[in-house]
Amino acid sequence: MMRLTAKTFHGLEDVLAEEVKSLGGKNVLVNRRVVTFDGDLKTLYRCNYESRLAINFLLPIHRFQARTDDELYEGVKQIRWEEHLDPKKSFMIQFTVRSDHFKHSQYAALKTKDAIADYFRDKYGERPSVSKERADLIIDLNIRDNKVILSLNSTGQPLFKRGYRHVMGEAPINEILAAGLIALSEWDKKSEFLDPMCGSGTIPIEAAMAAANVPPGVLRKFYSLIRWNNFDQRIWDEVKDSAVDRITDRIPRIAGSDAHFGMVKKARINQTNLEDYFRLSFQNFNIKELIAPDPGSTIIMNPPYGERMSQMEGIKNYEALGDIMKKQFKGSTVWIITSDREDIKHIGLKTSKRINLKNGPLDCTFRRYDLY
Ligand SMILES: C[S@@+](CC[C@H](N)C(=O)[O-])C[C@H]1O[C@@H](n2cnc3c(N)ncnc32)[C@H](O)[C@@H]1O
Repeated sequence: MMRLTAKTFHGLEDVLAEEVKSLGGKNVLVNRRVVTFDGDLKTLYRCNYESRLAINFLLPIHRFQARTDDELYEGVKQIRWEEHLDPKKSFMIQFTVRSDHFKHSQYAALKTKDAIADYFRDKYGERPSVSKERADLIIDLNIRDNKVILSLNSTGQPLFKRGYRHVMGEAPINEILAAGLIALSEWDKKSEFLDPMCGSGTIPIEAAMAAANVPPGVLRKFYSLIRWNNFDQRIWDEVKDSAVDRITDRIPRIAGSDAHFGMVKKARINQTNLEDYFRLSFQNFNIKELIAPDPGSTIIMNPPYGERMSQMEGIKNYEALGDIMKKQFKGSTVWIITSDREDIKHIGLKTSKRINLKNGPLDCTFRRYDLY
C-alpha cells in the first residue's frame, strides 16, 4: 500500500474523492486542490488510466523541514535515490514553491537537482542526466513555508491531455474542468444532454466519454509510471483491458451546438478522434433558434465571459439569456459556468444550486436552474 496524492482544480475535490473511491482508493481525505488516499499498484494504475477529474497522481517519498538552501540540499540527499533512479536514467524536477524562505523557486529546484546528482556522484562516481522532454523520473518538489515534500509523479503530462482535442476555439474549457462540471451536475448519463454554446466540443465529448465508459486514457500513449523501477506490465495491461471491456455504446442523445460554424467544425474534428466509441451531433445554431431538447434534459453551458462577455451572439446580457432559457429549455435543468458573478444575478431565474470553481486564474460560479 502507498499513500498517494491526487491533484485537481479548486472545487473538484469532493467529486474527485468519490471517483478515487470508485477506483479502489482507501482512507480518502480531501484537502485544498488535493485528495490523498491509500492504494496499491493496481489502484495507482486505475487512477491514472480512468480518472477524469485528477490532474496527476503523486507518490510522496520524503517529507522534511528546511529554511535554507543547505537544509534543502541535505534533506534531498537523505533519500535512498537508487530505489527510484540509476545513473543511466534521466530525471527532471517540477516544482511548486510558496515560502518566504525560498523566494526563488527556480533556485530551490536547482538545489534539489544538484543534491540528487551529487548523491549519485558521491556513491557511484556517475550521475543520472537531466531531461526536460522525456525524463525517466519526474520528481515533484513542493515547498510551503518550511515544509518540503518530495514526490514521484506517476502521470507525466497532466491528465487533461487526453489526446482527442486537436483543434480549439478562443476560450476552450479544460477537459478536467469539463468532466468536473458533468460530475457536479449529477447528470444521470441516461437522459438527453446538451451544450448549446459548445465551442470546440469539450463538454459534450467529456459527457459522451463518461456515459460510454470510455477511459480518458484510451488515446494516451505515455504515463511516467511505465518507467518506474516497480512497473508491472501484467497489472497495467489488466487495468487497461478491463477498462476497455466496460465501454458501452448504449448512450443517450448527447449534442452540442454553437452560433459559429467554425466552432462546430472544430467540435466535429475533435470527436472524430473518438469515433470508434460514439458519434455526437454538433450543429450550427444560435441558442435562440435551437430546437428545444426533450424535457428532463441536462444542459451545461460555458458562455463567453469576463472580457469576452460581449461576444454572446445576439444576446445583450444575462437577463436576455434568462428569457431565452425560459422559452427554450422548459422542463430541463440548466447549468451555467461563468466568472460574471454580478451580471449573472440578473438572469431572472431562481438559482437552485451554486458551486465555486476556478477556471485557470478566474473565480467562477457554476449555477443550476430548474426550468418549469
Ligand atoms: C467560452 S466558448 C465555449 C468553449 C467550449 N466550452 C470549448 O471547450 O471549446 C463560448 C462559445 O459560445 C458561443 N456563442 C456565443 N454566443 C452564442 C449564441 N448566441 N448561441 C450559441 N453559441 C454562442 C461562441 O461561439 C463560443 O464558441
